[in-house]
Amino acid sequence: MMLTCGEKISLVVLAVIGLRILLKVGIVLWRKLIAPSFGFGIDVRTQGRWAVVTGATSGIGKAFAEQLARKGLDVVLVSRSLEKLEEVAAEIKQYGVQVRVVEADLCQGQAVFAKIAKATEDLEIGVVVNNAGASYEHPELFTELEEKCLAEILQLNVAAVTGIARVFLPRMFERRKGVLINLSSALGVMPSPYLSVYAASKAYVVKLSSDLAAEAKRNGVTVQCLIPCVVATKMSKIKKSTWMAPSPDTYVESSLKTLGIEPCTAGYSPHFLVIAFIHGLCCVCEKGAVWLISKTMNNIRSRALKKKAKLMKENTKDSVATE
Ligand SMILES: NC(=O)c1ccc[n+]([C@@H]2O[C@H](COP(=O)([O-])OP(=O)(O)OC[C@H]3O[C@@H](n4cnc5c(N)ncnc54)[C@H](OP(=O)(O)O)[C@@H]3O)[C@@H](O)[C@H]2O)c1
Repeated sequence: MMLTCGEKISLVVLAVIGLRILLKVGIVLWRKLIAPSFGFGIDVRTQGRWAVVTGATSGIGKAFAEQLARKGLDVVLVSRSLEKLEEVAAEIKQYGVQVRVVEADLCQGQAVFAKIAKATEDLEIGVVVNNAGASYEHPELFTELEEKCLAEILQLNVAAVTGIARVFLPRMFERRKGVLINLSSALGVMPSPYLSVYAASKAYVVKLSSDLAAEAKRNGVTVQCLIPCVVATKMSKIKKSTWMAPSPDTYVESSLKTLGIEPCTAGYSPHFLVIAFIHGLCCVCEKGAVWLISKTMNNIRSRALKKKAKLMKENTKDSVATE
């Protein structure tokens, strides 16, 4: 049977589209499933003796510190509370590694980055986890957000992430080795009304990481950006972990397997599916996606405000009773 010229062109177009789809599916399967499962990621032990973790006294940061220590890396723990730092250090020393603690409020600007640089100048730093971050107490309108919360988010999520990268990347570039992991959030890559400043600060981390990754690659260094959805930590106020809101340990174990495979990743398959769903929804109907997220955030906000009002009422009753 002879094909007409038009039919031949259609067949070629279909074949090209089919091949492109197959290639895309293959790449996704490789990145999300095969490479992480078969250990094709970076072995952190090859990057240097020490790891630095900011915000290492709770949640995701603490899980990173523990898992890096379990892999045999010595760890520098950074956070504001010396007492909590020493508690975590004692737990981590059971893995037979060295631990150094640096008490530092990362919202304090340049002097604090100089302090961290000095405290680590004699160490071979192979891994840095830029994890410390701040968020809203609950979803809130931009115009109702307290000044203090706004300043903390900008200083910690934007200035400190940049400052820590500035301390350690030059040293890694010099050794032509190392890994910088920046904690962003899924909210940095999706519509996030009622969490606007937090989400915008995390979008900054995504952008900074992607451009730094290109600069760092030429110097033998890997920069990865993590964009998790909800993880059961103090920040998310979720106490019981689930498949969708994993424990920090589960999340970090999964994300460490993606190191060197994906420059920007949810780090945990169920979170990848959530992000893909929201992006799909945005492609089909962006207004609908924004409406759905706004409604969900507004409901959470209303519940949180009611709870707050109830607590305040109870506290006032108590203080009247004691007077
Ligand atoms: N949990 C989630 O659902 C989720 C989702 C997406 C992204 N993330 C991101 O993941 C990162 C970790 O979140 P998390 O949920 O694990 O938080 P978390 O449990 O609240 O822990 C925050 C850590 O940061 C430290 N920290 C807070 N303010 C600091 C400051 N000014 N200077 C130095 N350290 C400070 C805290 O220690 P001290 O109090 O001792 O200073 C603590 O160790 C954040 O960047 C967050 O935005 C979290």
